[in-house]
Amino acid sequence: MCGIVGYVGQQQALEVVVSGLRRLEYRGYDSAGVAVISDGELAVRKKAGKLTNLESLLGDDPLPAATTGIGHTRWATHGGPTDANAHPHVSEGDARNAVAVIHNGIIENFAELRSELAQAGVEMSSETDTEVVAHMLADILPATGGDLAAAMRQVCQRLTGAFTLVAIDPACPGVVVGARRNSPLVVGIGAGENFLASDVAAFVDHTKDALELGQDQVVTLTADEVVVTDFEGNPAPVRPFTVDWDASAAEKGGYDLFMLKEIAEQPKAVADALRGRVGPDGRLHLDEMRLDDAVLRDIDKVVVVACGTAAHAGLVAKYAVEHWTRIPVEVELASEFRYRDPIVGPRTLVIAISQSGETMDTLMALRHAIAQGARTLAICNTVGSTIPREADAVVYTYAGPEIAVASTKAFLTQIIAAYLVGLYLAQAREQLDPSAIARILNELADMPQKVDLVLDTVEPVRALARRFADATSVLFIGRNVGYPVALEGALKLKELAYMHAEGFAAGELKHGPIALIEEGTPVVVIVPSPVSSPLLHDKMLSNVQEVRARGALIIAIAEEGDDRITPYADHCIRVPAVPALMQPLVSTVPLQVFACEMATAKGHDVDQPRNLAKSVTVE
Ligand code: F6R
Repeated sequence: MCGIVGYVGQQQALEVVVSGLRRLEYRGYDSAGVAVISDGELAVRKKAGKLTNLESLLGDDPLPAATTGIGHTRWATHGGPTDANAHPHVSEGDARNAVAVIHNGIIENFAELRSELAQAGVEMSSETDTEVVAHMLADILPATGGDLAAAMRQVCQRLTGAFTLVAIDPACPGVVVGARRNSPLVVGIGAGENFLASDVAAFVDHTKDALELGQDQVVTLTADEVVVTDFEGNPAPVRPFTVDWDASAAEKGGYDLFMLKEIAEQPKAVADALRGRVGPDGRLHLDEMRLDDAVLRDIDKVVVVACGTAAHAGLVAKYAVEHWTRIPVEVELASEFRYRDPIVGPRTLVIAISQSGETMDTLMALRHAIAQGARTLAICNTVGSTIPREADAVVYTYAGPEIAVASTKAFLTQIIAAYLVGLYLAQAREQLDPSAIARILNELADMPQKVDLVLDTVEPVRALARRFADATSVLFIGRNVGYPVALEGALKLKELAYMHAEGFAAGELKHGPIALIEEGTPVVVIVPSPVSSPLLHDKMLSNVQEVRARGALIIAIAEEGDDRITPYADHCIRVPAVPALMQPLVSTVPLQVFACEMATAKGHDVDQPRNLAKSVTVE
C-alpha cells in the first residue's frame, strides 16, 4: 500500500526512481510523484492516476539532471486521488529551502498536528495526513543545524500510527533520510550508490545486497554510507540479507499479464515451496523453525490469523492439520482476532499467514498474540518483511515475487507451507508415524506435476469465462477442503471481474442462500473426489440436484473419471485425481483462470484491479 523509492548515487536519480516505481506500482496506483535535488534546488512532479500519467507529465515538463531523488506511488487513504494529494508533499518556501516528503501508512494523530500547524499560520495544500510531516520537518530543521536525520527523529517521536517516511532537503544534497514504524522500508546497498524502497523489487536491478530495518529506526543514506539509528539517535542494529531472486522474476517474461505468468509459475512455485524440507535422516526439517519440539508437544490449540486469500489458505490447512495432529485449529480473520478478547496463551500456536509479510491487520493480530504470551509462527513469501521478523518462527513459501494484485501462486504455496507445519507438528508429537508422514510428503511431491496437468487443460475454462462475462452473479459451492476453494474462487471473481460472487459450504445453501438461485444462475461446484471422498461426493450430488431443480446452471470442477457428475453438469472442467486433502491445489487453478479471463473479457485491468493494492499496510 503505497510504494516508496529513494536513491542517492552516480546515476540519474529520476531514471532509477521511476523504474523502481514501475516495480512497486502493484502497491497502489491512485497517483505517482517524484522529487529530485538539482543544483541545490528541489524539483517536484506529481500526477493523479497511474504511473504512465506521471511519465507523460515528465515528458512535457522534464526534471533537471540529478543524482538524489525520491518517488512515490499512492493508494489513497486521507484525501482523494488528486494531483494535490499526490506525494511528494513539500513544506512552504522556495525551491532552495522546501523539504519534500513521501509516506506509506497512516499518521493517526494528523488532525491534532494539522491544527497546531494551522494555528502557527501554516497553509496546507492537500487533504493528506502526510503533509504535516513536511511542515514539521521544515519547522524543526533550523534548530538541528540543518540535520535532516535529527529533524526526522524528532518528528517521528511526535507521530502515532504506521509510517514509512522518506525526505530530501535541497540544503543537504546527496542525502536521503528514511524512517519506519510498522510500515516496510528496506535499504539496497550499491557501490557508490544506495537505495531505499518499500520492497527490494524496486532496486534488485541494481543490487541484491540489502538491509532490513527494524521498528522505529531512522536511516540516513549518502552515496557511500548508510547510517541507522533509533528515534533517539542511538546506533541501531540492522540485519543484512541477499535478495535470492533475479530482476527477471519481477518482469512479465513474455506474458501479457503478471497474473497469467504467476498462474503459469505455480508448478515451480509448489516445487520450490517443498524443496529441501526432508533431511538425510528422512525427517521433515523446516528452516527457521525456531520452536523446539518440546514446545510443539505442549501446544494445545492452533489459531491461524490471516486476511483474504491467505485466510482461505488457512481454512484449507485447518482440515489437514486437525486430521494429522488432532490439535484443534481455529482460523480467524486477522482484523477480527485483534479487536476482541481471544483465548490464547503459552500453549497456543498462532500462525500468521501473509504473502507480503506486511499486511497491517495480520501484523497487529500477531502482535496481539505475542502480547498474550502465545507461540507464534509466520508463513510468509517475502524474506525480510515484518511479520516473519516478529514471529518466533517462520516457514517461507519461496513462491518468488507475486506482482499481480490478485494472489495466485502465493495461495498454493501457503497451503503447502501450512501442510508442512501440520506434518512437522505431527512428527514432533509423534501423532503420525514416519511412514505416514513420508507418504503424505510423497503426495505433496506429486503436486507440481498435477498442477502442470491442470494448466495444460484449462483452455475450455477461458471460453467458459468469456461466455459468462455478462452474468450478474456467480455462486461457488464446495464441501470440506472444497469450501475454502469456493470462497477463493468467489474472491477472485469479485476483485477482478467486479461481479457479485459468493462462496458457500454446499450443505449450507439450503439454509438460506439457495433463495439466490434463479433461472440460469451460474453455480461453480467444487466436486469432491468419488474415490477419495465418496461420502462427500454423494452429498455434493444431492446439493447439485437441489440447485439445478431451481434453475441453476452447473459448472463442475470434477476429477477425471468422475462420470456420476456428468449428467448434472452443464459444463465440466476436469482436474487430475489427487488425494482428498490435495484437491485445493488442483481445483483452485481453473478458478484463477476463470476470473482472469472474465476480467480480460470485460476490459478490466487484471493486474491492478480498481480500488485495490497488493500490500495492505493500513488497518
Ligand atoms: C486476494 C488477495 C488478498 C490478500 C490479502 C492478504 O487475491 O491478494 O486478499 O490475500 O490482502 O495479503 P497478504 O497475504 O500479503 O497478507
